Amino acid sequence: MTPTKITDTIELADGNRMPVMGFGTYLIGDQETMTTTINAAWNAGYRMFDTAMMYRNEDILGPTIHQLGLPREGLFLTSKVAEVVQGYDRTMKAVEGSLKRLQTDYLDLLLVHWPVHEYFFDTWRAMEQLKADGKVKSIGVSNYTMAHLELLATQAKEMPVVNQVEYHPYLNQQALLDFDRDQKIVTEAWSPLGRRVVLDNPMLAKIAKHQGKTVAQVILRWELQHGLLPIPKSTHVERIQENADIFDFSLAEDEMTMIDLLNKNERTGNEPEIVYETGKQY
Ligand SMILES: NC(=O)c1ccc[n+]([C@@H]2O[C@H](COP(=O)([O-])OP(=O)(O)OC[C@H]3O[C@@H](n4cnc5c(N)ncnc54)[C@H](OP(=O)(O)O)[C@@H]3O)[C@@H](O)[C@H]2O)c1
Repeated sequence: MTPTKITDTIELADGNRMPVMGFGTYLIGDQETMTTTINAAWNAGYRMFDTAMMYRNEDILGPTIHQLGLPREGLFLTSKVAEVVQGYDRTMKAVEGSLKRLQTDYLDLLLVHWPVHEYFFDTWRAMEQLKADGKVKSIGVSNYTMAHLELLATQAKEMPVVNQVEYHPYLNQQALLDFDRDQKIVTEAWSPLGRRVVLDNPMLAKIAKHQGKTVAQVILRWELQHGLLPIPKSTHVERIQENADIFDFSLAEDEMTMIDLLNKNERTGNEPEIVYETGKQY
């Protein structure tokens, strides 16, 4: 069932609950912008905040949450293990750093940022240990293909409950989405607006006009109706509010299909298989 408000949560396979939509913080790199955007996001109802070691902003997100007086138990904090610290010992140590920078003693969700073949199973072993130790409540992955998930299943004691992948109208990854669903893995959509590339599509503009909504709102609504959890990022207060205002309309089946048909398998980010082989993003 499609959620009815931004504060709705869904149950993960491990029994924990996760908000249906989040706020992305990639490229938010200064204290003033972080304070303004997190405050606006909180006021607009976002409860999930997505960061990563690689974004180098955990150390400004943590103090921001404290300064704004946001209740830790009312927040859902996600961070991700960077490629350069993968491996059992390095992951264990690196997460201590994340917790310190975020000024918290647990993460709600920790993801392996990208699959890396050299440390593939060792990193996951650390993830399982971090969950057992109570440092993270849920463990998941990001940018894993079906093949990576099948490989992981050969040794994992517990499987990821979330897979965060690039997803927008030009890259809808339908087969992966179906696979995740069958495995009880929730799919989060990163770059849910395709980093703006999709925003000038004429078909989306037509649907938006018909719905009396913006193109960004139509895309995010399409993702929600497909059962994905989008995590749009914006540094503009009015856009942060706009992106949250997607719970008062719904797309008809033919509109959903028209957006599905825009798929071009076009990535804005890295190809997971290349990162898996080379061990780094760029
Ligand atoms: N796991 C991964 O590997 C991975 C990779 C990439 C991203 N992510 C996560 O996903 C989050 C979102 O992805 P993203 O930041 O790459 O891309 P995105 O959310 O698809 O797009 C962000 C861009 O869209 C603009 N924008 C936002 N709302 C808008 C609106 N309503 N109208 C017009 N423009 C709008 C933003 O501009 P302004 O900021 O100027 O408003 C920004 O340039 C990231 O912040 C990060 O947390 C994860």
